Amino acid sequence: MLTSIKNHLAQHLLGSIPLSENEIFSMLEMPKDLSHGHLAFPTFRLAKELKKSPPAIAEELSKKISCGDFLGSVNSVGGFLNFKFKSKFIQNEIIESIILKKEIGHTNTGNGRKVVVDYSSPNVAKPLGIGHLRATVIGQAICNLARTQGYEVLGLNYIGDWGVQFGKLAWAYTNWKEEYDFENAPFESLYEMYVRFHSEAENDPEMNENGAEFFRRLESGDAEVEKLWKSFIEITMEEHQKLYALLGIEFDLVQGESFYNDKMEAAVQRLKEKQLLVESEGAQVVYINEKDPPCLIKKSDGSSLYATRDIASAIYRHEEMKGEDLLYVVGADQSLHFKQVFGVLEKLGYEWAKNCQHIAFGLYRFKDGKMSTRKGNLIFMKDVIHKSIEIAGNIIQQKNPNLENKSLVASQVGVGAIVFNDLVNDRVKNVEFDWERALDFEGDSGPYVQYCVVRCKSLIRKYGKTIEKEFQVDLDSPEEQSLQIHLLHFEDILGQSWKHRKPNLLAQYLLKVCSEFNHFYNKQRIIGSKPEVEASRMTLVHSVQRVLEKGLEVLGIPAPDQM
Ligand code: ARG
Repeated sequence: MLTSIKNHLAQHLLGSIPLSENEIFSMLEMPKDLSHGHLAFPTFRLAKELKKSPPAIAEELSKKISCGDFLGSVNSVGGFLNFKFKSKFIQNEIIESIILKKEIGHTNTGNGRKVVVDYSSPNVAKPLGIGHLRATVIGQAICNLARTQGYEVLGLNYIGDWGVQFGKLAWAYTNWKEEYDFENAPFESLYEMYVRFHSEAENDPEMNENGAEFFRRLESGDAEVEKLWKSFIEITMEEHQKLYALLGIEFDLVQGESFYNDKMEAAVQRLKEKQLLVESEGAQVVYINEKDPPCLIKKSDGSSLYATRDIASAIYRHEEMKGEDLLYVVGADQSLHFKQVFGVLEKLGYEWAKNCQHIAFGLYRFKDGKMSTRKGNLIFMKDVIHKSIEIAGNIIQQKNPNLENKSLVASQVGVGAIVFNDLVNDRVKNVEFDWERALDFEGDSGPYVQYCVVRCKSLIRKYGKTIEKEFQVDLDSPEEQSLQIHLLHFEDILGQSWKHRKPNLLAQYLLKVCSEFNHFYNKQRIIGSKPEVEASRMTLVHSVQRVLEKGLEVLGIPAPDQM
């Protein structure tokens, strides 16, 4: 529920409940069942002090508390005090916070604090896998959520552009480029070459030696090899950019792992100074605790590792980029890695290490039995998105053959289906991917929410008049009340989704608003009712549209005008 309403109620309760206004405010919660009330106050905490059972306290308080000019009722259910607001009060809040407010749902909890979000972060010369799809869409939603809370966000795509594999690729390119069509299919050629090198090198150690030699040249700044390496990055990013554009994603910064080549030694020095580096089987490691395996800092040949780079980059993100919270949206298979990296940062004495967080997620499982590999690279993001757009196009062709801009809408719906399907699940769980469910226009899907927005928009077109910025009458049927209350929870839901880094709370909420809206739509005549009722219901329709559109926007999903 909206902060302003909670404040209002907390003030009203002060004096009746033996707690401070702040305490009352923070304890007010959404009742499980809205038919009980619009906001609830649990009395359990008071039981010890008042030496009474929670239901007795709730019962007593419900008699004592007056309704004032804004409450419709106060009653008790079990250990809870339940409050219902008057329609007028609710409707005023809807006008203020949904119709008139420019950035609906926004708060200033973050107060400009800077958050750096590492997300998507694919590897050069490899296609974006389904795992990167998750890293991309969850990361984008996390960035958007943070922005709604008043944080300053830096969304960072940390590209895997360094490692001996680029020496191998440079060698392969030098020797094999004539056999591929780099002119017309640069990325496919690059990837095929990459795969071919690795399979041929399995039985040919000399090839690996050649690759290593090329990598040494790259490391020592050999202009020729460096030029090739840069072209690999360019080819890859040009390819990935097509998908990012389709998903509507723009990063604030794209930075390769190679950026940290000259910054790792300083980090290693800090570790040495703190006497944290220990030798283990010829390698340099840091123990973060007794039970977890140590973090590898330098291999026995002196080369640095993924973790070393992440340690240097975290220090940079904090010290140079001024990030106060450092978030990493990366698959759960890298949990140990991040535990080690954050553990080392803590050992280094960085107080801010506690503000580093791995936002982990599970794998994709396809219903037809195919499963993404550990790294999620067996199934390509490109194929999944294109297939979804194709299916969406077919459905639209069947349902609405005369629709204008069919291909644009198909792409909005196809993308929406994939993104929503990903975000509607608790991110730590694996996603069960079922094409039919993801694209079911009537089910709990992205297209279902999009369709609801389309329905609002088409009602507004049909109505044809300007939407009033006030309610002329009280809309107090149970459906209308319930819908309005749900709309007022939007701000809270955004806050909760951000706090728990769980976009699924928002996605689930949008589904609930849609079903509430559909109840209202099916039960109440909207267009064609008495003029002042019609106008008020249209104001409500418009509020629904605004909440759903904003919600979809935060999830990174487009809202079509028609479909
Ligand atoms: N490029 C890595 C991969 O695809 C993910 C990088 C995640 N970010 C990080 N700071 N380690 O597995």
